[in-house]
Amino acid sequence: MDHPLNLPLPAVNEVTALRAQVSAWRLAGERIGFVPTMGALHAGHLSLIEKAREHSDRVVVSIFVNPAQFAPGEDFDAYPRTLDQDAAMLTGAGCDLLFAPTARVMYPAGFDLTVHVGGPSAGLETDFRPHFFDGVATVVAKLFNQVRPDIAVFGEKDYQQLLVVTRLAADLDHGVDIVPAPILREPDGLAMSSRNAYLSKEDRQRAARLYAILTGMVTGLEAGTSIETAQAEAIRAARLAFDSVDYIEARCASTLATLPAGPLERPARILAAVKLGSTRLIDNLAASPLAQATR
Ligand code: PAJ
Repeated sequence: MDHPLNLPLPAVNEVTALRAQVSAWRLAGERIGFVPTMGALHAGHLSLIEKAREHSDRVVVSIFVNPAQFAPGEDFDAYPRTLDQDAAMLTGAGCDLLFAPTARVMYPAGFDLTVHVGGPSAGLETDFRPHFFDGVATVVAKLFNQVRPDIAVFGEKDYQQLLVVTRLAADLDHGVDIVPAPILREPDGLAMSSRNAYLSKEDRQRAARLYAILTGMVTGLEAGTSIETAQAEAIRAARLAFDSVDYIEARCASTLATLPAGPLERPARILAAVKLGSTRLIDNLAASPLAQATR
């Protein structure tokens, strides 16, 4: 096994070397799990690796800051790149192979493909980052073809992305089971994110308000408050706490379809995106009509 990246764990940056290792494992009858990331790893990413290990014998982690999912003017250049620190975190965390391709490997000269997933990509993030899911779907489709895993773990932190990737794997017959992993949070409730590193000390404190507002909205919905009232209250509170609110919405948990007005009648997901200065926070929580029935 080559170590072209000179890191403290088995690591490759070319597809041929990646496939050689994965094929050897598969020949030995082992199941392959995959965790795609953009690096700047935190405990949330490591929990995905743990989850992958529950479902497979070998775990491949990819680190690639994917230019196709950033629009001009977004934070592609500023996005934290901490490969040495990431490799140290991966050592002993259950990662058997790190795939850290260069942009040239992922997008060689002449590359001209866009994968567009419909369905769950409509609205929410797409209203504010119209390019985003095409960029994600294109790179994830390539990564699935490069790694050829049996399962891949995606975090509920990016709930709309999780549903888009599930649709992608089904529609392209990738034969990859998508396994969801719960959101890991800081002690004050803030969902862990590589972008939290952008927050000033003061903004970091304000950021925790998002979880409190979403928790309040879930409590209201589960007590029978109508969706429109619960949404309006959450948006009002978020406008006071943050510099701007992109959306806070209750949607169907399985399709992200909009829900009829009135009290909650089926499992929902409350999804939110807000801004603190130029830092965008996204988060989401489940809300269940069953909680109402048991009150
Ligand atoms: P990235 O933001 O690095 O996230 C990689 C994976 O970690 C995603 O599945 C994300 O949902 C999950 N994750 C992030 N924060 C988490 C948390 N606090 N708890 C649990 N899981 C968390 O998402 C991407 O990269 C990219 O879009 C990618 C899928 C790699 C395609 O480029």
